[in-house]
Amino acid sequence: MDEIDKPEDIVLETRALTRVYGERVPVKALDGVDLRIKRGEVVAIVGPSGSGKSTLLNLIGALDRPSSGEVIVNGTPISQVRNLDRFRGQTIGFVFQSHNLLPTLTARENVEVPMYELAISGSQRRRRALELLALVGLAKRGDHLPNQLSGGERQRVAIARALANQPAILLADEPTGNLDTKNTAEIMALLGRLNREQNVTLVIVTHNTEVSAAAQRVVTIRDGKIQRDVQLASELERELIELKSSALGQAILRGDELPAGLHEIAPQLHDLLERV
Ligand SMILES: Nc1ncnc2c1ncn2[C@@H]1O[C@H](COP(=O)(O)OP(=O)(O)OP(=O)(O)O)[C@@H](O)[C@H]1O
Ligand SMILES: [Mg+2]
Repeated sequence: MDEIDKPEDIVLETRALTRVYGERVPVKALDGVDLRIKRGEVVAIVGPSGSGKSTLLNLIGALDRPSSGEVIVNGTPISQVRNLDRFRGQTIGFVFQSHNLLPTLTARENVEVPMYELAISGSQRRRRALELLALVGLAKRGDHLPNQLSGGERQRVAIARALANQPAILLADEPTGNLDTKNTAEIMALLGRLNREQNVTLVIVTHNTEVSAAAQRVVTIRDGKIQRDVQLASELERELIELKSSALGQAILRGDELPAGLHEIAPQLHDLLERV
């Protein structure tokens, strides 16, 4: 069944997007990619090393120009944008694998950097930077330099910085690549919360299966082409699947005696678990 999207629902679109690197020995890093991403979607971009994931992200974020094809953001073709710096600053936030914070600036000052594009006073800038640091759980770390923070904390500062101009779209290239499992889970929880509460559209390049499992949609790139584009289950379905594989879920399915409180709803839960 074809799903018809209203044009205003599409926040990001690529049409026959192609990028060829080099002239003497051309490498077709991206080869005719058509992609439509809706407002508020969480999309993971996966695929082998060298398949074109970063190339795609850089083109979407207007950090690079296509050899042919087009990127359309909020209905505007990027090729028609006059002031790319301002466009990027107002629409798109970036988080990279190496958070590239400026080492001589504090966490708060790093978050303030993109706000210099905005017509706001120094005190407003500071206030907003502190709000963003609080949002990522670093309210008390504003005066710390990057080398006084852990890797996960630095990545959270980078996310706060990416959100400084309230972008509609957050692009992240291996945002958890340098992090351990616990920090990866925290960063993903944070990104998920931003998506739900602020309706930020997330496009995340990742090698990490936990990260792609947290997405609603997984796009697989191979040899510069989209190989697969899969819509995952809803959040509720995913939680039910998780419950089903837990000890409690198994007990419910077996019809074991359950603790008071759960006992009453066990039949309904049993039916739900059988359906996922
Ligand atoms: N600046 C460049 N000049 C020439 N070739 C490049 C350049 N950047 C990337 N490539 C080539 O384009 C292809 C796609 O690279 P890209 O960085 O997009 O891959 P990737 O999927 O992000 O890989 P990884 O998972 O290793 O980060 C590769 O073959 C790469 O060698
Ligand atoms: Mg890459």
